[in-house]
Amino acid sequence: MPDIQSTLPTIGILGAGKVGTVLSRLLLATGYRVLIAGSGSPSKIALIIDVLAPGAHATTAEEVARDADIVILALPLGKYRSIPAHLLEGKLVIDAMNYWWEVDGIRPDLNDPRVSTSELIQSFLPASRVVKAYNHMGYHDLDEGPTPAGTLGRKAIAIAGDTPSDLAAVATLVNASGFDPVLAGNLRDSIALQPHSELFGANLTAEGVQDALTRFPTSERGREVAAARAGDGVAGLSLA
Ligand SMILES: NC(=O)c1ccc[n+]([C@@H]2O[C@H](COP(=O)([O-])OP(=O)(O)OC[C@H]3O[C@@H](n4cnc5c(N)ncnc54)[C@H](OP(=O)(O)O)[C@@H]3O)[C@@H](O)[C@H]2O)c1
Repeated sequence: MPDIQSTLPTIGILGAGKVGTVLSRLLLATGYRVLIAGSGSPSKIALIIDVLAPGAHATTAEEVARDADIVILALPLGKYRSIPAHLLEGKLVIDAMNYWWEVDGIRPDLNDPRVSTSELIQSFLPASRVVKAYNHMGYHDLDEGPTPAGTLGRKAIAIAGDTPSDLAAVATLVNASGFDPVLAGNLRDSIALQPHSELFGANLTAEGVQDALTRFPTSERGREVAAARAGDGVAGLSLA
């Protein structure tokens, strides 16, 4: 019988906190090999990983970036410049991060309606392919929500990115981790998944996620985004 782990991509997770450990558990449960790192030495997270994500390999951020096939960013957004960008060249990178002022401080650069934070990450990682996913659902809901595909009322995760093949790869991962993937446009559109949107913090089915995305352009935040982008001469939402 083939070893299931040898047929699946290795998943790397940068951030061994609330979201990083939940995602590790979900992906380990479905057969993925998971490498995970915090900001420091692996010994600092060894106990946390033993307890919260047994089976994940605690290592350094550099080793995660170098050895994983797909890397999930689950660290505070304000620290994105500490990501080892050069080691992520050519890789699919999933951005699960949000601007959270209590953690990140007041950062107008992370709260600019003209630019989604995933576009910012894509600019910082120009040789990687960034897809936004796993950011809008709270970690408790992520932890308690997974169900097999086809389950009535299955919860959904919106994903946004610029390349169909990368979106397909992330949709496979989201589905394997227990959620229906919902396509939410390109990286520019991923602002509809960020804080200040109806979707942010929501725990919805695919239909509910789709409805929230449809309402975004006419929401207060959607109108603010459209006005800021029009004033700046940049493209608005492709979904609008
Ligand atoms: N909490 C939620 O419900 C939720 C849901 C969806 C998305 N998110 C987003 O996910 C991200 C993480 O949130 P969280 O709640 O999991 O935060 P958290 O519990 O504070 O964990 C953050 C983790 O990131 C690590 N880290 C910091 N800099 C790093 C680096 N350069 N490389 C690798 N790891 C690094 C921290 O390590 P040290 O302790 O060593 O600094 C810590 O393990 C945030 O952007 C957040 O907005 C959160």
